[in-house]
Amino acid sequence: MAGGTIETTYKSKVTGYILGCWILAAFGGMMFGYDIGISGGVTSMDDFLIKFFPRVHEKKQHVLEDNYCKYDDELLQLFTSSLYLAALVASFFASKICTICGRKPTILFASGFFIVSSLISCFGSELWMLIFARILFGIGVGFGNEAVPLFLSEVAPVQHRGAVNILFQLFVTIGILIANLVNYVTATIHPNGWRVSLGLAGVPALILFFGSLIITETPTSLLERGKDEEGKKALKKIRGVDDVDEEFEQIKEACDHAKLIKKPFKKLMQRSSMPPMIIGILMQFFQQITGINAIMFYAPVLFQTVGFKSDASLLSAVVTGLVNVLSTFVSIYAVDKVGRRKLLLQACVQMFICQMAIGVILSLNLKKTGTISGGLGLLVLVLVCLYVMSFAWSWGPLGWLIPSETFPLETRTAGFAFAVGANMLFTFLVAQAFLSMLCHMGANIFFFFSFWIVVMGVFVLFLLPETKGVPIDAITDRVWKVHPVWKKFMDDDDRRDMQMV
Ligand code: BGC
Repeated sequence: MAGGTIETTYKSKVTGYILGCWILAAFGGMMFGYDIGISGGVTSMDDFLIKFFPRVHEKKQHVLEDNYCKYDDELLQLFTSSLYLAALVASFFASKICTICGRKPTILFASGFFIVSSLISCFGSELWMLIFARILFGIGVGFGNEAVPLFLSEVAPVQHRGAVNILFQLFVTIGILIANLVNYVTATIHPNGWRVSLGLAGVPALILFFGSLIITETPTSLLERGKDEEGKKALKKIRGVDDVDEEFEQIKEACDHAKLIKKPFKKLMQRSSMPPMIIGILMQFFQQITGINAIMFYAPVLFQTVGFKSDASLLSAVVTGLVNVLSTFVSIYAVDKVGRRKLLLQACVQMFICQMAIGVILSLNLKKTGTISGGLGLLVLVLVCLYVMSFAWSWGPLGWLIPSETFPLETRTAGFAFAVGANMLFTFLVAQAFLSMLCHMGANIFFFFSFWIVVMGVFVLFLLPETKGVPIDAITDRVWKVHPVWKKFMDDDDRRDMQMV
């Protein structure tokens, strides 16, 4: 319905150097993923609960406690979600640093926050220290999640941009999986296993730190800051060919236009910026309202709720983590071939069926106390895997890819900050609310998520343009100005640019 774009290819070779840059930068995604995966496991470890949340531990011991409510505790949820609030605020600072200093230093700053935070959370003795460390980690996430997807989209050759950008999400999923595996082992180390879990985040953080010293700056960022010569050199290096004139001219043109805009945040509030803004923010809302983080944060808790024993629950979380990683490869393979829209639509159907089925099974079989039978528990696990699978090749990676490629250069870092901030806000809200919602709504929560999945499908069908194969610096002309709905927002946009900002 809203597809139809002209594809372009410039000359390029994938050299060892650029491959290294992609992978090193993607470690920023691993930090984000490691945290997503680690907190659920840590907050279900007895040693951790006894030390910091004795009330929750006490409640957990009472087998007759309501199944859907045993982990419902505001402070425990605050521990998980404080990071996201910090990341939300930090992403806006990160956008400024990205524009003024470049993508590379922003990634370097992120790694610094991660390293300090891992040290504090490994050795901290009071709850406030752990929360402080999570806030620092959140600032790292704000910086990393702002700079890494932009970096990847800007250095990728146009015909592989989707795949390269999805390395970010691939590393998110690897981070989640590693965290689940780490928790599986550290849960058996008493009483300080949780410290190992939190402290090990320092390892990928160090790789990111050294990586950020080696990677290139993006040609777009260099040109944006008036460093044309360096920009051309960087472009030749990352494309692995000498003949980059055509692409260089296109980036230059986008930069010259961008330089006319002195106040990107003001420009973002104009009508002509609404299409990428609305899409960028809605993509994040929809990504989170799929309920994915109810699974990612609380998988061990959820599986205990349906009757798995503690370590079987952690193991099930490892299984879903593996499915998450492997299915992301499908997206890497398909995104530049079948396009963004088809992946998103297919996933809506699969996620809807799975969520509805889980809701029906739990509401018919899981009463307030007791558990469901082993067979049904296993069926729930299979459905969760099928659900995670479809998320992993669609809304997971594309939630980051699409906003990183749909803003024109003049508003790209500022606009993307809104997308990152929105992601953090909605992640925070889901993390904060999920356990209470599970407690109040019981299994109906899965019907709630299913409803939103239908809304998302309709949104993609009518409002989301296809961006496959369109050069990142030609999006306005080739996507927004020709889209049946969004073109109405693009009227006389250039004239207004000159006058107002
Ligand atoms: C989302 C995270 C989610 C993860 C799961 C990411 O794209 O932003 O919130 O936990 O995917 O793989």
